Parts: sequence; C-alpha cells; structure tokens
Amino acid sequence: MNCNITVIPGDGIGPEIVREACGVLDKVGAVYGHTFNYTKILMGGCSIDEYGVPLTDEALETAKKSDSVLLGAVGGNVGNSRWYDVAPNLRPEAGLLAIRKGLGLFANIRPAYLYKELADACPLKKEIIGDGFDMVIMRELTGGLYFGDRYTKEIDGVTTAVDTLTYNENEIRRIAIKAFDIAMKRRKSVISVDKANVLDSSRLWRKVVEEVAKDYPEVTLTHMLVDNCAMQLVMNPGQFDVILTENMFGDILSDEASMITGSIGMLSSASLNEGKFGLYEPSHGSAPDIAGKDIANPIATILSAAMMLRYSFDLDKEAKAIEDAVQQVLTEGYRTVDIMADGCKQVGTTEMGKLICERIK
Ligand code: IPM
Ligand code: MG
Repeated sequence: MNCNITVIPGDGIGPEIVREACGVLDKVGAVYGHTFNYTKILMGGCSIDEYGVPLTDEALETAKKSDSVLLGAVGGNVGNSRWYDVAPNLRPEAGLLAIRKGLGLFANIRPAYLYKELADACPLKKEIIGDGFDMVIMRELTGGLYFGDRYTKEIDGVTTAVDTLTYNENEIRRIAIKAFDIAMKRRKSVISVDKANVLDSSRLWRKVVEEVAKDYPEVTLTHMLVDNCAMQLVMNPGQFDVILTENMFGDILSDEASMITGSIGMLSSASLNEGKFGLYEPSHGSAPDIAGKDIANPIATILSAAMMLRYSFDLDKEAKAIEDAVQQVLTEGYRTVDIMADGCKQVGTTEMGKLICERIK
C-alpha cells in the first residue's frame, strides 16, 4: 500500500514525538511492504512565527489532498505573550479548531485504558480500579460551544460575553452512529452523556441517540448526566465501554479519563470524518517546558499512528504489530521518565522509539 500522510510536527515536544512515530511507521512499511510518504506542514505557534496565522489555507489544502494526518501537538505556555497577546482566532489552538472544521473531523475517538504495568501510576485506590478499565470516549468535535456564535459587547452599559451552544439533529445522529458502530466491535455498551435536566441541546441529543439505538438492538444504551459521569469516572471507571458525548463535555471528561490511567503520555486519539479520513494525535499537549530534552514519551503518538493504520488504511495486522511492540517494551520494563517506576529502565524519547521499532514483527 502507498499512503500519503500529512505530518504536522507542531510546537514544543511535537517534532520529537512525531519523528519517532514516523520511524515506527517506516519500520512497519519495511516489514509489511507499504510505503508511507510524508508531507510536512506548519500549524500552531510555528506557523504564527512563519506566516502570522496558526494555519494557512495552503497548509489546509495540503492536508485535504492527503490520505490522513499525523499531528504532534500545538501551542506554547499560555503566558507566552508572543503567541497569546493576540485575538483568539490567531492563537496556536485556533489552527487546531480550523483544521478539525476544515477537514470535517466530527468524530473524536479517545481511548482511556489502564495498562497493567502502569497501574501503580493510577491515582485511584486499588479497590476502585478492580480489574482495570478500558473505555473509549466518543466526542463530537465540530459543533456545540466551540463553533457557535461568540462575541463580547456592551449591553446596557455592561460588558457581556456570549458563547452559543447549538446542535442540530444531523450532527448528533452522525456521531451517535460512529459510537454505536464502535460499541459493536467492543463490549456493546454506550453511555450517552448530556445535561438533559437543563439544556435543550441535550434533550435533542437524547432523542436522536435513542432513535439511532433502535438500529443497534445488541447494544445497551444508558443515559448519564455529565456531572454524574464526572463522579462515576473516579468511583467506578470499570463500568464504561463507549462514552458518547458533545464537544465541551467530551473535552473535560477525556482529560479526567486520561488522568485516571495515570499516564497521559500513553493515550492516543483519532478524529475522523464521515469516511476513512482522519487526523491522529496524542491526547496530551505540547509540553513546552520539556521540549528538546529527549525526555518526552513518544508512545501516545506511536499508538496514534497505529490508530491511523487501523481506521484510515484498514491495516489491522500492522496496527496490532505496533500495539504489541509497545506492550512488549513495557513488559520488558522500559519507561520514559513520566511513567518511570522502581526497578524499571529509564530511556529517552529516541531510545523508546528505537526499542519499539526493533520489536515490530
Ligand atoms: C483537546 C484540547 C483542545 C480542545 C484545545 C487545545 C483547543 O484541549 O484537544 O482536548 O479543547 O479541544
Ligand atoms: Mg482538552
């Protein structure tokens, strides 16, 4: 197979971790007979420095023409005045929102899985962890508060800021279908999270999700209010299989879910359009304070590359080879500093990438 991948190293640790993920893809290509071609584009702070905007139209066009996108991370310290003393639509994160919208990536898949080897890093008590947990958050990514009308103006002499939360039934239906499709390949449970006791958008959400559920009689659908879900995640994480939710709730809950795995440096994510096109990125940010030190954990990005092989290119065997290689280095006791524990062997970013490459079979 010949795959054209747009690569966005981005800011902070982005370039280091993306380099390792491309190295792993190249190894997969060599072992399984595929060619991965990379075209780099700038996005985030580095694009602001070069072009004055976080994402140029040309860069977006390049991404559109490719088969998939691999992203490191964008943004700097929010106090970094060079990138943040400007209008919100010119900040690094605006590039991320623009590429999500521009590529129609409405379905954000964020797995949160507890590695047995890393259970000690989980901040929850052993009795709560039980046999561990393995969930996927399916977050709607191109609607809701993130993309509604937004402005600040004087109303009756009082400065007033307005953000709008809008969802139409089609936006809800398409993300619900993706969630149920994924649940069919897992433990066949969808917990749909909303705030239907307050919000109209949530009441429509519930109605549409229930309609979609009728086409999936094997899948159990439960509704949960978002505040309760935040609580349940730390009380009984094992109950979750697929969590289906809107953009802002998904942003917040996915940080919570990643935290209880104890290792945000391990979590991958995929953002998909209606078809096979996707943008793949680690769940963590650009960590500017540790950039360039060869200590960042590249595993989340490497696992995101595995998700790319599975979801965009239908290369399940190859994706599994990457996941198995990651599992193997952990079993052998190799750790980057963020997941380091007694009796383990500490390695840097480059070394971790190399160890994983060597174990691709
Ligand atoms: C995420 C991030 C982004 C979001 C920010 C950087 C705009 O927090 O991907 O979860 O809120 O979606
Ligand atoms: Mg977030």
